[in-house]
Amino acid sequence: MFICFEGIDGSGKSTHLNYFIQKLKLKYANSISTREPGGTSTGEQLRVLLLHHDLSVESQIMLAFASRQIHIQQVIQPALDDNKWVISDRFVDSTYAYQGYGKKGNIDFIDNLHKIVCNSLYPDLTILFDIDPIVACQRRQNREISVLDNFEKKSLDFHQDVRNGYLKIAKHNQAQGHKYIIINADDSIENIQKQLDEIIFNILGSQN
Ligand code: ADP
Ligand code: TYD
Repeated sequence: MFICFEGIDGSGKSTHLNYFIQKLKLKYANSISTREPGGTSTGEQLRVLLLHHDLSVESQIMLAFASRQIHIQQVIQPALDDNKWVISDRFVDSTYAYQGYGKKGNIDFIDNLHKIVCNSLYPDLTILFDIDPIVACQRRQNREISVLDNFEKKSLDFHQDVRNGYLKIAKHNQAQGHKYIIINADDSIENIQKQLDEIIFNILGSQN
């Protein structure tokens, strides 16, 4: 089972992923969490380039896919072959949302790289944390971090485009048969955790 958490910066996906993986491991120990860009030592180096260097959108796309291919080859595919649950903080939808819809990069280029570089691997389930960028921005400002990455520094309009992009991607991919659950990320942490518990229960139940 391959599950990805997606959403704009400050939507709470890392907070909720931590909760999800802890709860999941109590019921299915054979589970791992990972992230993009990154997930491997090479990928983490590419993450620094993508997040902290001034690059063209095409270079950003190529770096994201270089990191993704290594991530799939070294971590995701071996774990799936081993019947593990893989929970990833971001995957290909982030490239569509940030580089495609946010930075207005070429969507066909992303489609082609996804086919060629990732063999069109798609998650079994994507959990999308949807939130107004104004609320997400307030949350980011409250967070205790010193160095903001290039995307966190961008304007409200950029994050609005990324949010709308995510919703379009979800609609488009659902029509192709991919499974999405869209969570209102402005809900309380407690309510979101209940929804995550239900997701774990429903998937594990349907596997028995
Ligand atoms: P992301 O990984 O999406 O950038 P984080 O998980 O780091 O977001 O969350 C950003 C901040 O918002 C953190 O300080 C976190 O505690 C807080 N937060 C997350 N979810 C909620 C929520 N539902 N309500 C209020 N605050 C939240
Ligand atoms: P994020 O996952 O939110 O990490 P943190 O919680 O440490 O801030 O940040 C990663 C950033 O990388 C985020 O701003 C989105 C960006 N990104 C892309 O622009 N393209 C991609 O393909 C991926 C995977 C991430």
